[in-house]
Amino acid sequence: MADQTTARILVASNRGPVSFSTAADGSLSLRRGGGGLVSGLSAIDDPNAVWVCAALGEADRAAARRSPDGRLDRAGFEVGGQAVRMLDLDPEVFDRAYNGVANSTLWFLHHMLYATPTSPAFDRRAGEQWAGFRAYNAAFAEALAAEAAPGAAVLVQDYHLTLVPELLRELRPDLRIGYFLHIPWAPADYFRLLPDDRAAAVLTGVLGADRAGFHTRRWAEAFADCCEQVLGATVDRADLSVTHRGRTTRLGVHALGADGEFLRERAHRPDVDQRLAALRQQVGDRRTIVRVDRTELSKNIVRGLQAYRHLLRTRPEWHDRVVHVAFAYPSRQDLAEYREYTAEVRRISEEINAEFGTARWQPLILQVEDDFARSLAAYRLADVALVNPIRDGMNLVAKEVPVVSDAGCALVLSREAGAWPELAEDAIGINPYDVLGTADALHRALGMPVAERTERTKRLAAAATALPPQQWFLDQLAELSA
Ligand code: F6P
Repeated sequence: MADQTTARILVASNRGPVSFSTAADGSLSLRRGGGGLVSGLSAIDDPNAVWVCAALGEADRAAARRSPDGRLDRAGFEVGGQAVRMLDLDPEVFDRAYNGVANSTLWFLHHMLYATPTSPAFDRRAGEQWAGFRAYNAAFAEALAAEAAPGAAVLVQDYHLTLVPELLRELRPDLRIGYFLHIPWAPADYFRLLPDDRAAAVLTGVLGADRAGFHTRRWAEAFADCCEQVLGATVDRADLSVTHRGRTTRLGVHALGADGEFLRERAHRPDVDQRLAALRQQVGDRRTIVRVDRTELSKNIVRGLQAYRHLLRTRPEWHDRVVHVAFAYPSRQDLAEYREYTAEVRRISEEINAEFGTARWQPLILQVEDDFARSLAAYRLADVALVNPIRDGMNLVAKEVPVVSDAGCALVLSREAGAWPELAEDAIGINPYDVLGTADALHRALGMPVAERTERTKRLAAAATALPPQQWFLDQLAELSA
């Protein structure tokens, strides 16, 4: 366990690498999380690394309170060898920051999800939420400042912690600060929806970092455009850097790849084999179109289902020859928009089965319980994968499916996903708003000869694993030290 102020490498993110739940007997049980960041950090071999994150529920809070300074003894878990510090924040502050600003404002802004004449509304409530967001970011900055050794490298993650680089630099100018955004960055015209003071605060917050990283050049350039147009900062497009008030922040493009080694091994464990057998039984000898997402507005699940319905309405040759396996796992259910979207996904799924289902054929299988092993089984089985987000920072599902696929899989991919530029050559591109175009793409994908599909999948898997999470992380660390 790192001692106070001796951490040489620090990571900060809202959701940490572990979470707790309370068992029936009141004891706390720990669960290790997944995802690119957790895999990336497994590359660090430094006993003085610390991961600072928020306690996300009651059980996390109880665990954080039990350990001195919110530090959790890492004897019980392994997260690449570093200690975790879970911040036990005031629940109201957390709610205002996470649900209010991060997920209802910044998420909607960067994914361009505001589409009505009455939203967003920057009223008194939004003012209170912003104050909570500042307090939440300040708590992270203070915790990082307290843990970091002189000159330490701090890697701040994602839109929740937008203000941290600037706040941390004020507290500890000796630190090397990196920031990475896992979601898209909005174009300047759209970004200006934010009230002027908040737009400026978001930008100067990120510019507190020495390096700001993005999954694609497109998002990095959008950020630079906003700095230029909103702050009047100087942008060097060749060098990809932004200079504001005498300080320069270098922008980097680091396209997070799939963890091929882990996925291939994990996808062939008995629990996945078991689920694959069950899925095969349900689907029979029909083709499968697979999608796996959080039930998330930006993932565009409803338009994907509408496209499948259009395919069945206009191409009866696929009746009884295809099954759409849609895994839509619960997400952010504290927000009304997400609850309504979830209900809409269920409604349209029921309509599709009612319209086309027969005694022997269920055209759509919708599953909403999160099950990673079952997702991997579906990846292995898929003839077609549908990944159609409205906008997406990267989208790792598009990269994971080709890696895991058993017999080759045609990938129908939104041109608005961060993964698109790397996979464009062998995926079938779609405009995510175009339901009829998506239906055509599904038809083309279903009819793709197996030999062609297999060849494309091999190339997709190579592109998808070009920058594995460990290297993705080490590259950023190296740049910060340079
Ligand atoms: O990639 C964006 C992101 O917000 C991650 O930070 C997060 O882990 C994931 O989406 C899921 O969101 P949440 O943590 O709100 O469930």
